[in-house]
Order: sequence, then structure tokens, then C-alpha cells
Amino acid sequence: MGQAEWARGLAERLLAEPLSRRWAHTQGVAARAESLAPILGDEADTLTAAAYLHDIGYSPELVDTGFHPLDGARYLRDVAGADDRLCRLVAHHSCAVNEATERDLYDALTKEFAPERRELADALTYCDMTTGPDGRHLDVHERLAEIHSRYGPDHLVSRSITTSTPCILAAVDAIETKLRELSAR
Ligand SMILES: [Fe+2]
Repeated sequence: MGQAEWARGLAERLLAEPLSRRWAHTQGVAARAESLAPILGDEADTLTAAAYLHDIGYSPELVDTGFHPLDGARYLRDVAGADDRLCRLVAHHSCAVNEATERDLYDALTKEFAPERRELADALTYCDMTTGPDGRHLDVHERLAEIHSRYGPDHLVSRSITTSTPCILAAVDAIETKLRELSAR
């Protein structure tokens, strides 16, 4: 079985029942990942697996620090025995390093998990940040506005998203440029 199929089963078990909307979002992110196969080739399976796993840190079964990229990555490393690349993609998805700084978890995150190769990390950020909370496709600016309105102006997540916005926009732009180049060929 491919990594994506394994990841889908694990994420469904952790998210579908306690957090059905998060599971809908996760499935939408995974569908975006599958759609990037033309630019990722063999790595599309790894990206799709990471897409299924990126938000498992929200599962009540494994919340520890409350910072979902770190909780998810630690669970993948310590409990699920996942491939190192999946752990690192989940740990750093959608420019998580900025929220880690807000939460005083920068050292923990960066010492335990090195960032994955830029193109793959950008691809996961692109998939997450162009998918709404119910799994539907959103423009990145709609997605950023949706996060701000969901959490409100004073929330740590909103502050982190503001800090992360240049990083998120650069990732989305990099992947959209690759998709445009491919379709122009
Ligand atoms: Fe997400």
C-alpha cells in the first residue's frame, strides 16, 4: 500500500468521528495534493500522505502541547512510526514556525524536525491554504480572510497567520507558477 492510503486510514480514524469538519477539510487538502501529481511526479504520494496527516494534531486523542503541527509530527514519529519526511512536512506545514514562535515552541519544533525540501513544503502549504474548513477550494486570500474571521483579531492564530502571510503567499505563488508553466508547455 502507498503512503497516501496508509495516511488516509490513520487520519480518518483520528479525525472523522470527533472532528468531522476537520476531516472534510483534510480530504479537500488531500484532493488538492493529488491534483499536483503533474508537477511532483513520484513525490505526489508523499505529498498526499502529508496532506491527510497535516491536521491530525487536532485530534483529541493526541493533543499535548496544543500546537497541532508539533503534536501531529510527534505522534507520527513516536507512535505511528511514520517516514521522517512525513513528520517534517507535518511539523512545518503552512509556515508553522511563526506560530511556534508565538507559542514559545520554536526551539522544540526546529530542533526535533528539520524543514523538508522547499518545493514539497510549498506544495503542502499551497494545498492547505487553498482549501476551506469544509474542504472546498478557496483562493488563498479568501482562505486567509476566513482564518482571521474564524479566530478573531486578538487570537494567537490570527497573529501567527499575519506573520506567516508573506511565506504563505510565496509558497502559493511558487506552485501556481509551476502549474502555469506546465500548462503552457
Ligand atoms: Fe489544514
